[in-house]
Amino acid sequence: MADQATAFAPGRVNLIGEHTDYNDGLALPFAIADGVTVNARTLTEPRIEARALDLGESDGFTLERPERVSGWRAFVRGAVAELQRMGVPLRGAALEITGEIHRGAGLSSSAALEVALCLALTAIADAASLDRMDLAQLCSRVENEWVGARTGLLDQLASLYGVADHAVRIDFRSLDVQPVPLELAGFRLVALDSGERHSHTRSGYNERRAECARACELLGLDSLRDATLEMADSLKTPLDNRVRHVVSENERVELAVRALIGSDVAMLGELLNASHVSLRDCFEVSTAAVERAVDSLLRNGALGARVVGGGFGGSVLGLLPAHMAVPDDAIEVRPGPGARVSSG
Ligand code: GLA
Repeated sequence: MADQATAFAPGRVNLIGEHTDYNDGLALPFAIADGVTVNARTLTEPRIEARALDLGESDGFTLERPERVSGWRAFVRGAVAELQRMGVPLRGAALEITGEIHRGAGLSSSAALEVALCLALTAIADAASLDRMDLAQLCSRVENEWVGARTGLLDQLASLYGVADHAVRIDFRSLDVQPVPLELAGFRLVALDSGERHSHTRSGYNERRAECARACELLGLDSLRDATLEMADSLKTPLDNRVRHVVSENERVELAVRALIGSDVAMLGELLNASHVSLRDCFEVSTAAVERAVDSLLRNGALGARVVGGGFGGSVLGLLPAHMAVPDDAIEVRPGPGARVSSG
């Protein structure tokens, strides 16, 4: 059993397949180089002393009964509580948290924080490490129940199952995760911050989720994975459009996998654009700032551009030809390995 461990969990970019995870659908994300690092060192007292170094803030609480709070502290307390609920015998620990992902930029700083916290805490616990799928589900409970965002499993799975130079095709019904080589023949992917911070607890994210659940109820389905475009026609607006987005987005994920395998970058660009149009018009998660970011990428020669993640602000993904310069306020994003831990 180690007395000290460092865990790193990456953020993610979702190539395509948005708002499909909580509808038992398909997505094609990849882990990026930026992420969150948590250093854990055991304490003799049964307490957690956590410090968010970038924020200059700290939190301390006893292992026994973490109370509910808001902000980054909710992630730490939620991770501690949920790990213990799974029977992981945690030890008291001093935690130091640092991160390179811009919070609220839509590159999933939240999942990276949950995953890094859980990996670091389990690495110094007197227990075998958890299965990564169980860990993803546990992290998602932290976010759902402690942070208050009803997000799905996309971000946690991308962070935990990332593979260098690959995207991962995730089927959220079977929980099958398949790496797909992401080679773009000189093209580059960039994430351009729309400048508008988003928050899943405050934005329309939870409302979209509730609308999908309502559409299922009206259609007599367990999930929108089984919905069809014909079924959508029987619903009133906006539920009809929400269903159209989910059905067509699942198809676009399959087509994107095919485009990657066939090295068809032009097709990938078209699919990104079609995804954005659907997210804007049918799922209604775009904003004026997001539209400006998409337009500027396309005007400057991007082959495709779309809002990534939950929307309502955050970042925009662009597919750029080799000759197009990366805009000043954008970062190039490349598929990197998944979360990892080192003990010392
Ligand atoms: C956020 C959530 C994910 C997923 C996306 C939309 O990133 O955390 O679970 O629902 O939005 O695809």
